[in-house]
Amino acid sequence: MQKGCDPAGGAGRFGLSPGPFVAKNKAFSRKRSGAEGAERAFADQYFGDLDVAHAHTDTEEPTRRDFLYIATGAVTAVGVGAAIWPFIDQMNPDASVQALASIEVDISAIEVGQSLTVMWRGKPVFIRHRTEAEIAEAEAVPMSDLPDPLARNANLPESDPATDTNRAHAQGEAKPEWLLMIGVCTHLGCVPIGESGEYDGWFCPCHGSHYDTAGRIRKGPAPRNLDIPEYEFVSDTLVRVG
Ligand code: FES
Repeated sequence: MQKGCDPAGGAGRFGLSPGPFVAKNKAFSRKRSGAEGAERAFADQYFGDLDVAHAHTDTEEPTRRDFLYIATGAVTAVGVGAAIWPFIDQMNPDASVQALASIEVDISAIEVGQSLTVMWRGKPVFIRHRTEAEIAEAEAVPMSDLPDPLARNANLPESDPATDTNRAHAQGEAKPEWLLMIGVCTHLGCVPIGESGEYDGWFCPCHGSHYDTAGRIRKGPAPRNLDIPEYEFVSDTLVRVG
């Protein structure tokens, strides 16, 4: 059985407003009654002067008109995606922020026994040019004396032990004379003071944490060794952090 074009049959099914493809057949619609009659009255009121005739059957087979509505919906979805993309794109970090993801530091002027603090990703990073005595002191510490046995070195596997070699290890190589650490106490985040404390390394005065010459926690409330960031030596005098 055929029936007249139904504005809710295609457009309503996909949540779209009736378009110009809605047809009318006034003579046929007047014979309708009940709900279909009401629908026809609606169609006649809003689309009464349209003369495109597209009758379809009662079967659930998709028709060409359904395809047109689906295609319209798909274009609408793509259009919305294209419209919001600039706003999403604006949320990506700009070039200046991305540049801070890593920094390169010239270490040529840091003499043996001196330190330099640089800022990286909003945190201080200690770069220490260690003396032979500091290295020897750290190497002599038995692992059993360390409250935190892990290296905490982003350049090494998480399970690597906190030997002095593993603490002074860059990407791909160990350079015992250089120690790089994030200068944030692992207790509650204060910045420790260098060449201080009972172990000749760093001391955090906030609550009394003592770190040794390899930045390992030895005494006090701090639970972990100072964290070591990713870094690599670009040359003998240039180090990239991050
Ligand atoms: S924040 Fe360093 S000891 Fe508490």
